[in-house]
Amino acid sequence: MQLHMGESMKKIIDMIKEEVTEAFVKAGYEERYGMVTVSNRPDLCQYQCNGALAAAKQYKKAPIMIANEVVDLLKESKSFSDISAIAPGFINIILSDAFLASYVENMAKEDKYGCEEVKAPQSIVVDYGGPNIAKPLHVGHLRSAIIGESIKRLGRFLGHKVVGDAHLGDWGLQMGLIITECKKRNPQWVYFDDAFEGEYPSEPPFTMAELEEIYPYANAYSKEHPEYKEEAQNATFLLQSGKRGYKALWNHILNVSVNDLKKNYTKLNVEFDLWKKESDAQPYIPDMVKYMKEEGYAYVSDGALVVDVKEETDKKEVPPCMILKSDGATLYNTTDLATIVERVKLFQPDAITYVVDKRQELYFEQVFRCAKKTKIVGEDVKLTFLGFGTMNGKDGKPFKTREGGVMRLETLIESITNAVYEKMTDRDMSEEEAKEVARKVGVAALKYGDLSNQASKDYVFDLERFTSFEGNTGPYILYTIVRIKSILAKYKEKAGKDLEQLAILPASNESETGLMLGISKFNDMVETAFAEHAPHKVCQYIYDLSNAFARFYHENKIIGEENKERQESWISLITVTKGILETCVDLLGMEAPDRM
Ligand code: ARG
Repeated sequence: MQLHMGESMKKIIDMIKEEVTEAFVKAGYEERYGMVTVSNRPDLCQYQCNGALAAAKQYKKAPIMIANEVVDLLKESKSFSDISAIAPGFINIILSDAFLASYVENMAKEDKYGCEEVKAPQSIVVDYGGPNIAKPLHVGHLRSAIIGESIKRLGRFLGHKVVGDAHLGDWGLQMGLIITECKKRNPQWVYFDDAFEGEYPSEPPFTMAELEEIYPYANAYSKEHPEYKEEAQNATFLLQSGKRGYKALWNHILNVSVNDLKKNYTKLNVEFDLWKKESDAQPYIPDMVKYMKEEGYAYVSDGALVVDVKEETDKKEVPPCMILKSDGATLYNTTDLATIVERVKLFQPDAITYVVDKRQELYFEQVFRCAKKTKIVGEDVKLTFLGFGTMNGKDGKPFKTREGGVMRLETLIESITNAVYEKMTDRDMSEEEAKEVARKVGVAALKYGDLSNQASKDYVFDLERFTSFEGNTGPYILYTIVRIKSILAKYKEKAGKDLEQLAILPASNESETGLMLGISKFNDMVETAFAEHAPHKVCQYIYDLSNAFARFYHENKIIGEENKERQESWISLITVTKGILETCVDLLGMEAPDRM
């Protein structure tokens, strides 16, 4: 079996597939019957091929006969330690330990553990985070940030050109509400003096804490006082029309908010390349609307400007996409469409992925259809809605504070960090280091608790479970890495040197085979997780790999091993294990400490 095809390292499943396919062809069957999958009976075999069952019909032969012919041709293969035909026609495959070991050894030598960068990198925009300025970051925005960050990292790892955009919500009534409330409290501010023509102050007139108090207050007040709401709407309109004083004030709101948001996102290891705002898309609107009208896509219905987006195959009603309200005002839709125009201009994207609450699914369906129909984006540009479910409390309702309020992200991180701190056993470190470790592990607990669920599903935030050092949790994964680090340090101390080369011997027992088998699936897993926008597959993989390591470690006394060659091979093996776990942890936006 050829390990390298040109420069690149093949996926192990593809190598098996090629060999099996070759045998099918040699035996006189079509190539397509040589498909191979990971076994769904790991107790019986590692991989399987069901092609003989499928071929039976075409060749009018009993499937077991076909399977036997193919198996006979593969009996001598060095890749398999066992390959057998099983009634009614399955082919069960067990890899040879020599083949597996050489594959893992090659992975260890490769840049990204054998995960190849794509030949044709795509330009991809990931729209995630979506915080609204002047409002505190709360847990509702948490999932978007966590999932989006991982999608971005996965894409980059595979060599794509990925741009992460926070797409700030800064274009709504909330701006007018804050301005109105500021004016009520501080009518003397220069921002409200229409006669003022000088430079406005560069220092903001409020802190984030003040802003956070102003917005909810103004919002609640406006609900009870229609004249106040009207004033806020008017202020929004004036701001959007470019009123100088309001614009200056709005700039302060923006800066104060963004600084605060950045601080919070940094705590979460979330980093945006772009901090574009809804307002940045506004200049694209007039031309876009004109174009949609001229091309006959948009028409007036009940005074509003709309584009029909329903399709014959629709099972549920998909209402028209509204571009302008009857009073000429733009909507959330209009902004999103204009943002597509902007992104096409700036990035010529091959794909735009939106990581947003799944309750916005129909909305995005309308926007996507409208964008495609009106050709503001090319037919081949992939627009994807990655909708996520809600993070619930133990009562099954959206997560709240104990007092029933909206939980602030900072508070959430703090509570999870404290819980981890209580659980840490390694007390042989300074207070400062312990705090830093608790922070890393806490963030991992939070993120892993989220990412290990399929994004579209709701999940329950369970502080106790998420912070546990055992089971399918972030801390358990990190703890596995920490354990490997400590074994490696012990080895180094005893051997008086680092390991010189990563030679890996064929496994000497079952738990070792299990660990190698897990390692060998890394590249395939990464590709799938990205293609399916499924970070939970990374979590599943590292959980399985950590368990395989735990078993291997339990059954093999690495440090006490007398056979030097064997010991070095094991050290190599756990070094690769650690490297892959660390890579995956990074793909999820988490970090492992050196001890915990
Ligand atoms: N700011 C919005 C919200 O809080 C989310 C933005 C999602 N992204 C988008 N392109 N519409 O609901």
